[in-house]
Amino acid sequence: MNPLAGRDILSITDLTKEEMEQVLDQAARFAQALAQGQRLDLLSGRILATLFYEPSTRTRLSFESAMHRLGGAVISVAQGRLSSSAAKGETVADAARVVAGYADVIVQRHPAIGSAQEAADAADVPVINAGDGAGEHPTQALLDLYTIRREKGRLDGLHVGLVGDLKYGRTVHSLARALAHWSVTMTFVAPPSLAMPAEITAALREQGCTVHETTDLRAAAQVCDVLYVTRIQKERFADPDEYRALRGSYVVDRALVEAAKPGITIMHPLPRVDEIARDVDPLPNAAYFRQAHNGVPVRMALLALVLDAVS
Ligand code: NCD
Repeated sequence: MNPLAGRDILSITDLTKEEMEQVLDQAARFAQALAQGQRLDLLSGRILATLFYEPSTRTRLSFESAMHRLGGAVISVAQGRLSSSAAKGETVADAARVVAGYADVIVQRHPAIGSAQEAADAADVPVINAGDGAGEHPTQALLDLYTIRREKGRLDGLHVGLVGDLKYGRTVHSLARALAHWSVTMTFVAPPSLAMPAEITAALREQGCTVHETTDLRAAAQVCDVLYVTRIQKERFADPDEYRALRGSYVVDRALVEAAKPGITIMHPLPRVDEIARDVDPLPNAAYFRQAHNGVPVRMALLALVLDAVS
């Protein structure tokens, strides 16, 4: 039995460094098999349920694609708040308990922090958190690690800049915690009102990480090997004026990339609004579409491990 068999994946802190490496290594093997056009049937007869109470393109579709690529089947609620019994007042726990009887693994996204834990407590099959509000997005962090390793050939010794909405952005919460397992220097670039939550920064420093905080994107771009840019999370603001005031605070454009550290890698979990100008897209530095595609082999690895189809 592999150590991830039957496990819930709720926070990136649920995984040890060795377990993360196991996912990345398995993902690399699946990516190679896909590139060679191999047919994989490891999850034949198994069912994945995706329960999404918040919008998603990449996460839901790459999970579904991953399950299909492994020969498994998918049942799906894409608009949970509108089209499921949540609209009738059903709780996350009741829904998860019921769906656990229809599937072997559940992938859930929901706007409330802690909702993945609630589902996991109620379901007797593994639950994978695909985003719980401004909390965590552990599978995104795994595909981000995989992307950095693929683009740069390593994780140790890199300087990674996390840019944008570090307060509400769940991807950066999970990624920073994940990167802390390697000897990585991190620079957080955010307007003061959207800074990384103090408890995360403190935990990273306690683990021995070097963490810098700045508002100066240009200066950060000159020292970072990777810039991970994020969208201001409009849907988390109570006051639309506050969002409007912060929108467009940081824009990575071609001029910035050309003045940055040579060979810098630009990443973004997507969707982008205006944080990365379109003129960056043709540059070899632009890794964000490759990053999105890496979601498939990484989620294949996670599903195969959680469902104990590989060791
Ligand atoms: C992110 C998310 O949902 O947190 N998207 C994704 O899963 N790739 C980022 C975002 O919405 O800004």
